Amino acid sequence: MRGAPGRGGAQRPLTALHWTGGVAMIARPKLGAYKARARFMRRKIVAGNWKMHGSRAANAPLVEAILAGVTSERMSCVICPPHIYLHDTWRVLRGGVVALGAQDLCAEAVGAYTGEVSGAMLKDVGCTYTLVGHSERRTLFGESSALAARKFAAALSVGLIPILCVGEQLSDREAGRTEGIVGSQLEAVTQLSGVQALGGAVIAYEPVWAIGTGRTATPEQAQEVHAFIRQRVAAEDAKIAAGLRILYGGSVKAGNARDIFAMPDVDGGLIGGASLKADEFLAIVAAA
Ligand code: PGA
Repeated sequence: MRGAPGRGGAQRPLTALHWTGGVAMIARPKLGAYKARARFMRRKIVAGNWKMHGSRAANAPLVEAILAGVTSERMSCVICPPHIYLHDTWRVLRGGVVALGAQDLCAEAVGAYTGEVSGAMLKDVGCTYTLVGHSERRTLFGESSALAARKFAAALSVGLIPILCVGEQLSDREAGRTEGIVGSQLEAVTQLSGVQALGGAVIAYEPVWAIGTGRTATPEQAQEVHAFIRQRVAAEDAKIAAGLRILYGGSVKAGNARDIFAMPDVDGGLIGGASLKADEFLAIVAAA
């Protein structure tokens, strides 16, 4: 049954794993052709991260409006409400083309972890995706890259698609450490789970200085880091890298989404503030 909790959520996600199977059928393509084809086949994702916003009264019309506005499966649309509203949201989304995602999960599978929510529970209430290692988790709640890597593994182990968030602070960028920081956040995951694990995942590059600040990275700044991430992964596995969806996040709005999404290594966006207004979010979805 389509859309049942625990069975992939509200839509059948086109994961990198699915389509890299298609790419594998191409007999030894030249690198340029391979990359061009891969880009064409990477279905864009727009994911809304509501953070700690919402109420039952406010969520209902927002979810209804998003569901009514997203009618095609040419791209993937995901919304990530707070845990407490996940199941309510799934009840509205089920059977439609908008998928449900969580904002975080526990690295442990089950047990005496007061206040935590496991990946299996998220699956159980209809989630297809979960954010992992969002910068607010890292900076405000002291989550290390090692913990994010364990959460990433926990998500995959129950069949959730992790959206791994990476990104540098402004001071890192100014000191020329962007690639070092992003590379080490990525490496924590690949060391624990192996690079092949990225075949079932999504990455979100979110420069911390652009989150909630209204100061977005330029399309070129985003592209530079996205290309770095893809090359980093390609050094270990070119096929996984070619299929990997890399989202940009940080003050994406209806007015700047199209230019950012047009960059060759940008495969959509992770949207915070602008995902709380249906019209704005749907305009971003339309730009993908
Ligand atoms: P923002 O947040 O769009 O409000 O900058 C993005 C995010 O934190 O995912």
